[in-house]
Amino acid sequence: MEGSSYSRRTFLQAAGLGAASVWAPGHVSGYSIDDLRPYLAGERLEIGVSKWDLETPALCVDLDRLERNLSRMETTLQRTGIASRPHTKTHKTPAIAHLQMRHGSIGVCVAKLGEAEVMLDHGVKEVLLTTVNVTPSKVRRAMQLRRWHPNFIQTVDYPDNARDLSTAAEEAGVVADVVVDVSPGARTGIPPGPPALALAQLVDSLPGLRLRGIHAYSGGSQHVVGFSARRAHSLNAMAGAAETRELFQKSGLSTEIFSGGGTGTYNIDHEIPGFTDVQVGSYIFMDCQYLEIGSATNPTLYDDFDSSLTVLATVLNTNFEGRATADAGTKALTLNQPDPYILGSSGITYRARSDEFGAITYGPDASRTFRTGERIELVVSHCDPVVNLYGFMYGIRGERVELIWPIAARGKVV
Ligand SMILES: Cc1ncc(COP(=O)(O)O)c(C=O)c1O
Repeated sequence: MEGSSYSRRTFLQAAGLGAASVWAPGHVSGYSIDDLRPYLAGERLEIGVSKWDLETPALCVDLDRLERNLSRMETTLQRTGIASRPHTKTHKTPAIAHLQMRHGSIGVCVAKLGEAEVMLDHGVKEVLLTTVNVTPSKVRRAMQLRRWHPNFIQTVDYPDNARDLSTAAEEAGVVADVVVDVSPGARTGIPPGPPALALAQLVDSLPGLRLRGIHAYSGGSQHVVGFSARRAHSLNAMAGAAETRELFQKSGLSTEIFSGGGTGTYNIDHEIPGFTDVQVGSYIFMDCQYLEIGSATNPTLYDDFDSSLTVLATVLNTNFEGRATADAGTKALTLNQPDPYILGSSGITYRARSDEFGAITYGPDASRTFRTGERIELVVSHCDPVVNLYGFMYGIRGERVELIWPIAARGKVV
C-alpha cells in the first residue's frame, strides 16, 4: 500500500459513499465535502485510508489520545474545583473547541481578533481575547465583534485603552465585557495592586464597559522543569494577581472571572485564592517542549497527557553513510527547539533546519535505519506554530483517517 493514494472518485466508489456527504462518527463534528473542498488538494479525499498512505508532510492527530487528554483534564479539574477556558491558539480548529466544550470547558481563549471572529462564527459560546487591542481600527473591530457576539470578552491593561474601548463600544451600541490584564511579571498587563485596582475602577465607571474580573497569565511558569519548582514559581508569580483580586472584592468590583495558567500549571492553579479557570492549550496535543518538563510523579517526562499530534514525513534520500534526508523542514515543523522526536526509534536525531528538508542522523546506538520512501512520524517541538502551518489536520483512529478538520483560524495573525 505504501506510496499509493486514492483519488476522491476511487475512494467514494470503494466506500460506497455518495458525493454529498462524508461519514463522521456521532461524537465528533464532521464536515460535508463542500466544507472540505477548499482545504483538499484538488479532488483528493483521504478519509478511510491508512495514515501511512498519506502524502507528506501531513499533520495528524491521534483521536484516541486526544479524547483521553480531554477526559483527563475534565476529571482533574472536576476534582480540584476550577473550570477550563482552553486557549485555542494551540489548535485554531473550531471542531476541537466544540469537543472541549463537550468536555466541560466554560468557553475558550484566543490570542488574536481574527481567531475570535472564527471561533464565534463557528458557534463557540464564550470567547476571551487574551491580547489587548491598541490601534483605533482594532479597537473598533473588537467592539463591532462584541455587537454581533454578546459572549466576547476583551482584555485591557491601561487606562487610555479602556477609554478608547468604551467610546468604540458606545459607537457600536453595546456595553462590552472586559477583564483587567494583571501582570504576573510578564510581557503584558498592568502591575498588580493599586495600578490594577485604579484601572478596574475606571473600567467600572465607563459607560461602554462592564468589568468581569481578572486575566493573569504567568507564561514564564508553564515550562519550569520539575513539578515542585514549577509550583513554587507559579504561586509566587500569581501572588500579586491574587492580592489584586482581593482588592477588587473589597472595593465591590466584579471578580467573576480570575483566569490564567496553562498546561504546565493546570494541577497547581486551584491553589491560587479565588482562581476560576485555567487557559490550558497544549494538553490536547503535547509537544517536545512540554514532554521534557516532568510531572508531579515523573521527574523526566510530563506524562499527565499523551502526545497526540504528529507530522508524518517521507524519507527521500539514504545515499549517505550515517544519515538520511526526509521531506519535513522548517516549513513543516518550524525552527523551534528541542528537535522533533521520531516515534518508535532511539539514538536518532531529526533536525528540521532547511526549508523543505529534515536531516536524520544515526547515533552510535541508533535503534534502526530507514529506507527511501519510508514514512516516519515526528512529535513536534512546539505545537502552536506547527499547527499554524497547515490548512487541515487528519484525525486518525488506529491507523485510519477518520476525519479531516479544517484549521479555520490558521494564519489569523491580526
Ligand atoms: C494567554 C495564554 N494563556 C494560556 C496559554 C497556555 O497555553 P499552554 O497550555 O499551551 O501552555 C498561553 C500560551 O501561550 C497563553 O498565551
